[in-house]
Amino acid sequence: MIYQYILDFIDNGLIRKGKVLDLGCGHGQAAILLSSLEFNVEAVDKNDPAIPLVKGIQFTKTDIRDFKIKANHYDFIHARNVLHFLHKDEIKQMVARMYRGLKKGGVMYFNVSGDKDGWVEKSKAVVTFLSEKELVDYIEYEFKMPPYNKVTRLGYGNTTSGVNKYTHTITYTVIK
Ligand SMILES: C[S@@+](CC[C@H](N)C(=O)[O-])C[C@H]1O[C@@H](n2cnc3c(N)ncnc32)[C@H](O)[C@@H]1O
Repeated sequence: MIYQYILDFIDNGLIRKGKVLDLGCGHGQAAILLSSLEFNVEAVDKNDPAIPLVKGIQFTKTDIRDFKIKANHYDFIHARNVLHFLHKDEIKQMVARMYRGLKKGGVMYFNVSGDKDGWVEKSKAVVTFLSEKELVDYIEYEFKMPPYNKVTRLGYGNTTSGVNKYTHTITYTVIK
């Protein structure tokens, strides 16, 4: 189950039941999971989900760079496998806006592609491949805090487009 980490966050008491924002929600599997667990979910994607999202999820079809994230509003902001479609400076702005969008104690979860990732060659749409040092430096210096958790995955990996043989993603969990 791709989203086991979300269940673990809930089980471990890391995220409170409340307002969730899912940026680049794709087909909405994470949004649907959270909604079924009684979170109040907003989801954003520039494309329509292939299947209609369940009742109760507030979906906005727009570019995440144009979506106004309300300040101090969310308990959990989720942006999985989407930030690598933005340019490096846009990722930084996005992460800063996500952080502002969190309530105190809120959690954000996002990942970027590392520079060993197979998508470097496979996709023109994926534009940013950061070295680990770049993003760790950014989070630590910009926010003056280390990530709560940082996972580097190198090897086979699941994406919504199937198995990616040379996955190199760096996933960050940050608590405000
Ligand atoms: C690889 S899918 C990831 C979907 C989902 N978050 C997941 O973890 O399975 C990437 C999604 O990001 C969306 N996307 C890419 N760039 C975007 C942008 N600038 N604004 C909004 N959505 C974007 C795509 O339409 C696609 O649905």
